[in-house]
Amino acid sequence: MAEGRTVTVVGAGNVGSNTARRIAERDYADEVVLIDIVEGLPAGLALDIAQSAPVEGFDARVRGTNDYADTAESDVVVITAGLPRQPGMSRMDLLDKNSEIVTSVTEQIAAHSPYAVIIVVSNPLDEMTYLASVVSGFPKERVLGMAGVLDSARLRYFIADKLEVHPAQVEAMTLGSHGDQMVALPRQATVNGKPLHEMLEEDALEELFARTRDGGAEIVGLLKKGSAFYAPSAAAAKMVNAVLEDSQEVLPACAWTTGQYGISDVYLGVPVALGSGGVAGIVELDLNDSERTSLQEAAEAIRAKCKGLEERRT
Ligand code: LAC
Repeated sequence: MAEGRTVTVVGAGNVGSNTARRIAERDYADEVVLIDIVEGLPAGLALDIAQSAPVEGFDARVRGTNDYADTAESDVVVITAGLPRQPGMSRMDLLDKNSEIVTSVTEQIAAHSPYAVIIVVSNPLDEMTYLASVVSGFPKERVLGMAGVLDSARLRYFIADKLEVHPAQVEAMTLGSHGDQMVALPRQATVNGKPLHEMLEEDALEELFARTRDGGAEIVGLLKKGSAFYAPSAAAAKMVNAVLEDSQEVLPACAWTTGQYGISDVYLGVPVALGSGGVAGIVELDLNDSERTSLQEAAEAIRAKCKGLEERRT
């Protein structure tokens, strides 16, 4: 277990509370602070999680609060605050409301935990990550977004389910945006080390990618109220652990590009090595022309949305 590490999770909704729970249950941190504006909610959920410690066998302290002073000097802050999608909504429909929320949260976080790594989970993900980066003024490598681990997990699950293999035997990655311009990389996907395209026809592959791209909406449609939280919280907790452990593990995440794949100065889903300072580096996979073009198109779409966001802020 890491010594003296504090993780703050902002937003005590389903994603936030489950992220806090997963981090505590695995003793990824010594202390997990759950914060929300709703009075009592984070304190109640934190107490509930803490009371599971004797049964689950973890030692991490879990606290809930409405006061940012209690989050001071966090090593990692996960921002899940904001409204979730309802049926029929796209992630972009949340832009205005969640921009306000993410702006105010980030101001508080930057003031109380100036050295933290910020992992954004609020939607629309790519734009909210950019916003948190601008508002915090943190070095870009210390602000990143969670989406690639989730989208890749969905894709890996769908492949495993289709081929009836253990999910851990499937390697696959999605890049680009957490939305319509998600970029699947069929050539890089493997099952037990064998290329996936040797096992699945093009059509079947396409179907799995489409289901992955629309994976969040499928769940929103079924739940009728709110959006997914088990897989999103698992993905966020995995990223938190990579940062706290300084693991340098390569995971897909929304990160600031500086020329990789011919793309610069935009937040985009790319493979990153994660460590204690956040993004230690962006990994450049060997993409073909069409994959590269799709990634560049995703980047330009995100850039345009972020520009719109900037204009509204000023
Ligand atoms: C999803 C939300 C969290 O993809 O964006 O389920």
